[in-house]
Amino acid sequence: MRRVNIAIDGFSSCGKSTLAKQLAHHLGYTYIDSGAMYRAVALHAMESGLVRNGALDLPGLLGVLGSLDIGFKYDDEVQRSTTWLNGRNVEGMIRGMEVSRHVTLVSPVPEVRAKLVSLQKALGAQGGVVMDGRDIGTVVFPDAEVKFYMTASTEVRARRRFLELTGRGEDVDYATVLENIRQRDEDDTRRKADPLRKAPDAIEIDNSDLSAEEQFQLALGHVARAIGEKAEA
Ligand code: DC
Repeated sequence: MRRVNIAIDGFSSCGKSTLAKQLAHHLGYTYIDSGAMYRAVALHAMESGLVRNGALDLPGLLGVLGSLDIGFKYDDEVQRSTTWLNGRNVEGMIRGMEVSRHVTLVSPVPEVRAKLVSLQKALGAQGGVVMDGRDIGTVVFPDAEVKFYMTASTEVRARRRFLELTGRGEDVDYATVLENIRQRDEDDTRRKADPLRKAPDAIEIDNSDLSAEEQFQLALGHVARAIGEKAEA
C-alpha cells in the first residue's frame, strides 16, 4: 500500500514539529522540517556577507542559489535528522535567534521558494513523509491525504520558544522572542510568494490548551481515518 503524505502548516512555534515528529515516529514515516531549509539559505547568506545592515544582497544570493546543496542526514548518535548545507552539518547553527531574525529576508524570494519547493516535492514523491512548514498543504503537497493547520495564541507560542531557546543556553529575553514571533507572523502571511494560508481541506487544531499527547492523539485519529479510507478506496 502506498504510504500517504501528511502536511502540517502553521505559524512559527505552534508545535508543528513536535506533532510531525510524533506522527512520523509512530507511523515509521520520514519527518522533514521545511523551515530548516529556509534557515540554511539564510545562514549561507549571512555567512557569505550577503546580509548587510539587515538588508539582503538579492543579486548576490541569486548568483549562488543554484550551487547551494541543502539536505538532511540521519545522525545515529543523536538519533534524529540533521540539516546539511554544502557538506556541513548546520543543525545547531540554524536554530538560533540570529538566523530567526534574518530568515524572512530570504523566505519571500520566489527563486528561493522555487528551489526549495522542488526539493521538498522530490522528498515526498514516494509518500510516507510528514512535512511541516507554511505552504506544505497549499503548494508543496496540495494532494496530501492529510493536512493539518495548527494555531496557538501568540503569547503561548512566544513562551514555548523562549523556554526552548533558554533551555539550549541562549541568552534571550521574552520580549525579544515575542517581538520576533509577531514580526515573522506578519512576514509569513503578508508575503506575495506562497504566504501562510490554511488549505481548504486542512483540519485546524488550536493547541493553546492541549498537551503534546492530547494533540498527538487527536491528530492520529484523523490520520488513521485517512489511511483507512485510502486502503478501502
Ligand atoms: O518553521 P520555522 O520557524 O523554522 O521556519 C523558518 C522560517 O522559514 C519562517 O519564518 C518562514 C519560513 N518558511 C517558509 O516560508 N515556508 C516553509 N515551508 C517553511 C518555513
